[in-house]
Amino acid sequence: AALVARRASARAHWRRAVALLREFEEGCATPPARLRQVVDAMVVEMHAGLASDGGSKLKMLLTFVDALPNGNEEGIYYAIDLGGTNFRLLRVEVGAGSVVIGRKVEHQPIPEELTKGTLEELLNYIALALKNFVEREDGKDERRALGFTFSFPVRQTSVSSGSLIRWTKGFSIEDAVGKDVAQCLNEALARNGLDMSVTALVNDTVGTLALGHYYDEDTVAAVIIGAGTNACYIERTDAIIKCQGLLTNSGGMVVNMEWGNFWSSHLPRTPYDISLDDETQNRNDQGFEKMISGIYLGEVARLVLHRMALESDVFGDAADSLSAPFTLSTPLLAAIREDDSPDLSEVRRILQEHLRIPDPPLKTRRLVVKVCDIVTRRAARLAAAGIVGILKKLGRDGSGVASTGKTRSQPRRTVVAIEGGMYQGYPVFREYLDEALVEILGEEVARTVTLRVTEDGSGIGAALLAAVHSSNRQGSI
Ligand code: GLC
Repeated sequence: AALVARRASARAHWRRAVALLREFEEGCATPPARLRQVVDAMVVEMHAGLASDGGSKLKMLLTFVDALPNGNEEGIYYAIDLGGTNFRLLRVEVGAGSVVIGRKVEHQPIPEELTKGTLEELLNYIALALKNFVEREDGKDERRALGFTFSFPVRQTSVSSGSLIRWTKGFSIEDAVGKDVAQCLNEALARNGLDMSVTALVNDTVGTLALGHYYDEDTVAAVIIGAGTNACYIERTDAIIKCQGLLTNSGGMVVNMEWGNFWSSHLPRTPYDISLDDETQNRNDQGFEKMISGIYLGEVARLVLHRMALESDVFGDAADSLSAPFTLSTPLLAAIREDDSPDLSEVRRILQEHLRIPDPPLKTRRLVVKVCDIVTRRAARLAAAGIVGILKKLGRDGSGVASTGKTRSQPRRTVVAIEGGMYQGYPVFREYLDEALVEILGEEVARTVTLRVTEDGSGIGAALLAAVHSSNRQGSI
């Protein structure tokens, strides 16, 4: 009788865990119809953000980049790329005809305490690293143009200046908000005896677009899906209503959407997303980013597993070990997958070593795989909807009528530069994203759209933009 009771109880626990799984799966559902609603909401918000400052959660920030590198750039340029847990130092040598003759990229970690200290400390650290890098590379600190990729929302005042609006991605250096980060870096460079100053202050998406465009002039937008997520694209200046009278030589300007902060009631939000938001330093901000990008996905999955552990015994007594925030990193999430081996031995290892679940049986391992897959799939499909939103705004989604005009548009070849660990280092994510693009656009139109991966584009592109803006040569857009 005891055995029968135990079995019945085990079945009940299992049923509870599966019910939670189903509920989560339904909450995360992104059928094509829903993705199209997200696309349309994105287009509406883009218009609103272009109409007035504060008109939308989508900030649609001006970049003052009205010329992109076109292959005529020549010389040696430096760039600093700051935007996540690492920062990069770059030295880029370019020659006429879209050739990057040489590049040197050095990755350096950012000590965690510097992301929460003062701006001066952070920039001193970076300035010193740049000084050493320049000395190693050039022997002397010759005055050269410098691109500064600063991947946070910035209100630009020119192509080489702008103030930080707020931090994202876990950075929280309070005294930096509102300051001109390029000017502060210039001061740090001077303090460290380096005769250089920022020629181009750009977002990582803008750097990526610049490199994409350098290689292929059909590149009209760039997307980052890494620690954070964001996109930029080339907009006609007359469509940027909030800046009427803004004249550019090319008639266009790159707009940094800051789409991480996009929000719409059509987004499939679950109670786990709300719990995640509560754990972050930027509550109520970056809602789209928290469903898509690297620093958050593992945590959403962990929250689901934790609830399962609390409400059933499928994880034995592991509820405690599953209760610690941010213990399931996204690289682990990426490694938890079906095609590991028939008995999911890698999944077992991860659960044992990283989440301290002693001996998860096969069906529990399968459950974990499923949870991670749901999180990844939703993220990739929402990112795809975001991309189609941009295409639609540009009249390049094949729907026939450009959203800003009445002209019928034939689908043209469109290239979107893309970068970031989620798309580059996570094949399943990439497959889901590509698949969703086809579902939303239809095969014929999807064939006209190329997502082109750029390597280190955010930094190299910044160096190229420094080149464009250090001479008076006109690039093209
Ligand atoms: C965050 C930042 C944004 C950046 C993105 C990708 O969303 O706010 O500026 O482009 O991360 O790094």
